[in-house]
Amino acid sequence: MVSARLSFHSPCFSPSTTGHALSIVRNSTMRLANKTALISGGGTGIGKAIAICFAAEGARVMIVGRRKSPLAETVSEIHSHGGQAAYVIADYAQVKQVKESIAATISTFGTLDILVNNAGVAGFKPILEVTEEDYEYQTSINLKGLLFATKFAIPLLASQGGGSIVNISSGAGLKAVPLSSVYGTTKAGVVHLTKISALETADKNIRVNCICPGFIETPIFDTFIPKDQLRASKASFSEMTPLKRMGRADEVAKAALYLVSEDASWMTGNVVTLDGGLNIA
Ligand SMILES: NC(=O)c1ccc[n+]([C@@H]2O[C@H](COP(=O)([O-])OP(=O)(O)OC[C@H]3O[C@@H](n4cnc5c(N)ncnc54)[C@H](OP(=O)(O)O)[C@@H]3O)[C@@H](O)[C@H]2O)c1
Repeated sequence: MVSARLSFHSPCFSPSTTGHALSIVRNSTMRLANKTALISGGGTGIGKAIAICFAAEGARVMIVGRRKSPLAETVSEIHSHGGQAAYVIADYAQVKQVKESIAATISTFGTLDILVNNAGVAGFKPILEVTEEDYEYQTSINLKGLLFATKFAIPLLASQGGGSIVNISSGAGLKAVPLSSVYGTTKAGVVHLTKISALETADKNIRVNCICPGFIETPIFDTFIPKDQLRASKASFSEMTPLKRMGRADEVAKAALYLVSEDASWMTGNVVTLDGGLNIA
């Protein structure tokens, strides 16, 4: 048993969300002890929360993205609390770089047990204004990158006797949302790909599940909402949501932790909606 004491300011374990103390004893009873997880888009938002949460549960975490600084900051945050993490810079629109990021995980940590396909980009406009570039950009990251990460991970998970994959889709992948002809279609594709991957890998003891978040407070909104409209937009997202607030990234991380843990050992091909009730409003 490893006796290192981790003191995590993890969103998963913050007093505000759990009421528990911050320090955690790393030991073999942690839910992800001796597991290696690769998390695309792990430097910011939902991916960062998942990386911190998984590291706090004993996982060795490899995070991937295009920008160095958020990746390095997240890794240093995990290290400073005694967790194990590394990063690799890769563009998930490029299949070769997806493959290299998975090879880097093996060369750094030796194994791969968990894949979280979280990297994604968003954009919203009427169909009449959609360009080929909009289509190629979102599709290449949200769908192609995810499909090929899954492809390259499957043999590695299988060689470990099984493993788990979690795909981050969106509520916009389940319900038709105006202006989301590209984004919503990629996310609907993620839901479908989750089910196909689950069917194709069940005989290898690989479970594949998907989370469809509603409005989660992350930097993604800065990428497509003008700065002067952000506040009002977020207020309207909260108003539309039955629980009357946006979700937090750590709330998605806790769902991802459940899905990859042994607690969900009978779940595969499932779609978890996590949206403060938005889908029933
Ligand atoms: N926030 C929400 O309300 C919400 C709702 C439903 C679904 N989602 C989904 O949740 C996922 C995470 O988004 P988020 O909300 O946490 O926003 P975010 O903070 O913008 O996270 C997106 C992450 O993906 C990475 N990424 C983007 N393009 C990439 C590429 N080509 N290669 C590698 N990494 C790439 C980004 O890093 P770099 O820019 O450095 O590459 C970033 O770390 C996305 O798939 C998003 O569609 C979010």
